[in-house]
Amino acid sequence: MRSFLRGKDQLAYDMFDMERSAMEAKRFNKCENIYHQGQKLAWNGKEILDMLVAEHGKPQLDVETRHALQRVFAIILWGELAAWKISAQLADRLEPLEAKMAVTSQVHDEARHFYVMHDYLSLLGDVPKTLDYAPRKLLDMILRADNLAYKILGMQLMVETLALTIFQTIRLAKPEPVLAELMKYYERDEARHVGLGMQYLPMLMKDMSKLEIARLFSFQTRILAFSMWEMKAIEKDFQHLGIDAREVLERGRAKQMTVMKQTFESLGLDAERGPVIALFSVAGELLFPSAETRGDRQAQWRAAWRALRNEDLPEVNEAELEVHEKHEIITANTPRVREKHLAS
Ligand SMILES: [Fe+2]
Ligand SMILES: [Fe+2]
Repeated sequence: MRSFLRGKDQLAYDMFDMERSAMEAKRFNKCENIYHQGQKLAWNGKEILDMLVAEHGKPQLDVETRHALQRVFAIILWGELAAWKISAQLADRLEPLEAKMAVTSQVHDEARHFYVMHDYLSLLGDVPKTLDYAPRKLLDMILRADNLAYKILGMQLMVETLALTIFQTIRLAKPEPVLAELMKYYERDEARHVGLGMQYLPMLMKDMSKLEIARLFSFQTRILAFSMWEMKAIEKDFQHLGIDAREVLERGRAKQMTVMKQTFESLGLDAERGPVIALFSVAGELLFPSAETRGDRQAQWRAAWRALRNEDLPEVNEAELEVHEKHEIITANTPRVREKHLAS
């Protein structure tokens, strides 16, 4: 009884008391907008999948291509479930109204991503029932993280950026037309989720000490290491789908640099040219050598040494993220367009 009387309130009655700088007010505005955009751009997963199958036919692939696609998309399928759970954890725990709204709309999006991917993989054949060790460990780390900054950096800024990289790559390589079209829908949603992380994480980090920031970046490095490990494990599957893993890596790094610049520059950190990106590049040179160094171990080590000092980094390109927001999609709010599409 006494512990019940002394227990902490479960509702944050002081949620509107937080003082906000002009910059923070602007960021919270953007978070609120993510929620409204999520509502406006929500698409009906069942109808869109049916529409794409009617247009392109039921997905049919030879056994080997199907297996390669299933291996790559096992990560996406279970990654979407993890994203659903992690955004639900955040929806419960984030206190500022606008951030809570934005991540609540993400929960809705991730539920759609999970069931649509499940339905698509069922059409293709078997739904992957398990996941390799590295992505399992990676997703588990974020699910178990108690610190909100770790969760947001891990999910919204790392996993979502990697997912955007895979979606764009599959859309361009088109191993199967229904899936390639579906990727536009996923990209539109995931870009908003990355946006939430970019707007909210700096506010969570503003009072962190240097040591706390270093620990956060070390968490990010571990996530990166597990991602690289898995990329290597599925390199042959990418190859079978006509995708060069080195290109995926370069696209992923370019997106990560843009995300890191836009997130951390307000905190005075040059994270887009920092140690995490350097490690990304070093691992890239050693695991996925470029056409110039492939087969020449010494040249690979020389390239890795340059990469460690961030010598051959491309410029940060804002368009890396903008591309995902430009796809035309049929939303649940555009019934007439949808009906016309179905009738044709
Ligand atoms: Fe998703
Ligand atoms: Fe997402």
